[in-house]
Amino acid sequence: MSKSVFASVFASVFASVFASKVASKVASEGRGSTCAGGSEYVAGDNLPCAKFPSCSRREVATASTLARKRPIVAVAASNAAEGIPMEQSVKQGTSSDDALQIAHLAVKQLSHIATLPEVTLGIIELVENPNSSARDLNALIGRDPALSARILKVVNSAFYGLPRQIGSIDRAIALLGLNAVKNIAIAASLAKLFRGGALSDRFDAKELWSHSIAVATAAKLLAKEARMSSQDEAFLAGLMHDIGIMVELQTDRAKLAQAFADMQFDADGQPTIDFRTAERAVFGADHCHFGEALCEQWKFPRSLALACGHHHDPMHAPAESRQIPWLVFIADRLATESEGFRTDLAARGIPREALDALGIGPEALDSVRSQLAAALDEASATLAA
Ligand SMILES: [Fe+2]
Ligand SMILES: [Fe+2]
Repeated sequence: MSKSVFASVFASVFASVFASKVASKVASEGRGSTCAGGSEYVAGDNLPCAKFPSCSRREVATASTLARKRPIVAVAASNAAEGIPMEQSVKQGTSSDDALQIAHLAVKQLSHIATLPEVTLGIIELVENPNSSARDLNALIGRDPALSARILKVVNSAFYGLPRQIGSIDRAIALLGLNAVKNIAIAASLAKLFRGGALSDRFDAKELWSHSIAVATAAKLLAKEARMSSQDEAFLAGLMHDIGIMVELQTDRAKLAQAFADMQFDADGQPTIDFRTAERAVFGADHCHFGEALCEQWKFPRSLALACGHHHDPMHAPAESRQIPWLVFIADRLATESEGFRTDLAARGIPREALDALGIGPEALDSVRSQLAAALDEASATLAA
């Protein structure tokens, strides 16, 4: 037997023995369905496993991963039969640690294909360094006249509502601070990454960019309603939240096309399969993992990495860092009430828990709804690719 044949036979025997061992352990302890199905969460998203402390999510997930040769529809049907809502069933896929590792590897490989401009990465590094000054930032941005112009366009838009036109980067830094200018620089650089054309009749990178601007706009309006100080960070979190899909596109177009092809929709265009389940079946990770990994690669603040990583399941983010993920969770739903990319939204309700996390009531949602269209026109014009 050749070495490679031996290796593949060994791998498949090991996988099936390990999978059945773990699966029987899961079955004997009754964890598989209890974890996902036993909570009172109202909106049908993922549930914390903390309620069942003995549950080893890693073991359950690994067994599921190794055994994942079943078609997505079969997985969904079997989960439905077990009373597991669609979005909850995602957590039965690859464990988060494994999936994040897959995502990190993918992101490292594609750094030469698509990344933020050098100057933007330099801006992030510089602002994170406590020894940097406004003068350093001004000098760095000044090296890229096109970026400088885009930053000034954002600064002078209705987004900031400044009383006078700002004509220079150093004035913008003085008025808004280093951190806000860094966030604007990132926002002004992102459009270039949402390229790649139409993948199929189910996905177009341009449509995702429009959706990202809509979610960013709703997130910013929500942050204002919630009286949060970092509205530009909320905007950026919205802009970034689904960027993991672009990582998938650039990692392997055929696999992403497969994930979209695996999706099924009802007559209203509502997905009847969780997109993350479809992504995990082909990539071993979903766009939340890829987005989080990209943020870490770019050395973004942790809050942004968590917004990407947990915009579908904010309750799984660390307790002290759930505000931005909840903000994006709500903004994603508000932004798609009329149109826009919503293949990844199997459940579209906004639970009370989400409003409580931001300290707002339902009237705040209505206020955002009433302002969204006009604010979106402005943001789209400012960030046009
Ligand atoms: Fe998403
Ligand atoms: Fe989204």
